[in-house]
Amino acid sequence: MQSILDVRSLSPKERHPGIFNTFKELGPGDSFVLINDHEPKPLLYQFQIEFDGEFEWWPLERGPEAWRVSIVKRETKAVEREVTDYMQDDHHRLDRILETFQEARSGGNWANALAAFNEFDLGLRRHIQAEEEVLFPLFEEKTGMKDAGPTFVMRMEHTDIRDFLDKIKAATEAEDSEAAAGATQMLLNTLADHNMKEEQILYPESDSFLSKAEVKDFIRKAQVL
Ligand SMILES: [Fe+2]
Ligand SMILES: [Fe+2]
Repeated sequence: MQSILDVRSLSPKERHPGIFNTFKELGPGDSFVLINDHEPKPLLYQFQIEFDGEFEWWPLERGPEAWRVSIVKRETKAVEREVTDYMQDDHHRLDRILETFQEARSGGNWANALAAFNEFDLGLRRHIQAEEEVLFPLFEEKTGMKDAGPTFVMRMEHTDIRDFLDKIKAATEAEDSEAAAGATQMLLNTLADHNMKEEQILYPESDSFLSKAEVKDFIRKAQVL
């Protein structure tokens, strides 16, 4: 269980110090979920300055009543990062959320199923956005491969993935277990192959030709999305 820090009842003055103290007290690899009443972008920028390379930032919910972010203290305090680790960790994180969704759906707990699906949907769409808007353009620029290269195939698969997300969401909102299970299976089949290609080819290649400063810049931009 992740601990929760709900700062909505605190005065704005108390919020940032409270959040920083909670982060500082975390053990390596531990995390907490921050709940706020607005998009905590200024806080993220402050984390990027104060705790460079020390944290992960995974938004779970974006309003209209609550904004939730999972903030993780990384195991290592390495400022030098890799595209492969960062993006692969996100694949695994998303896999676990989808498992929670599957358990809730098969148990008929639709409120929990929808909550888990919404977290997954937000996370996977942000992940794809980081690839399409930040990582792939870098890859295409460095390799000169655009229209027939790996990013072209990945972008086409993303289109299928987004269609499956739409189908699962509609089926979950309609509490149609069979349709949700079918669309989830199709998504899982596509993701298994897609993620493997990224983890074995695209991310390691990106690490091989991006400088450490470019990797750091990619992660900063991905966090802000
Ligand atoms: Fe992808
Ligand atoms: Fe990916």
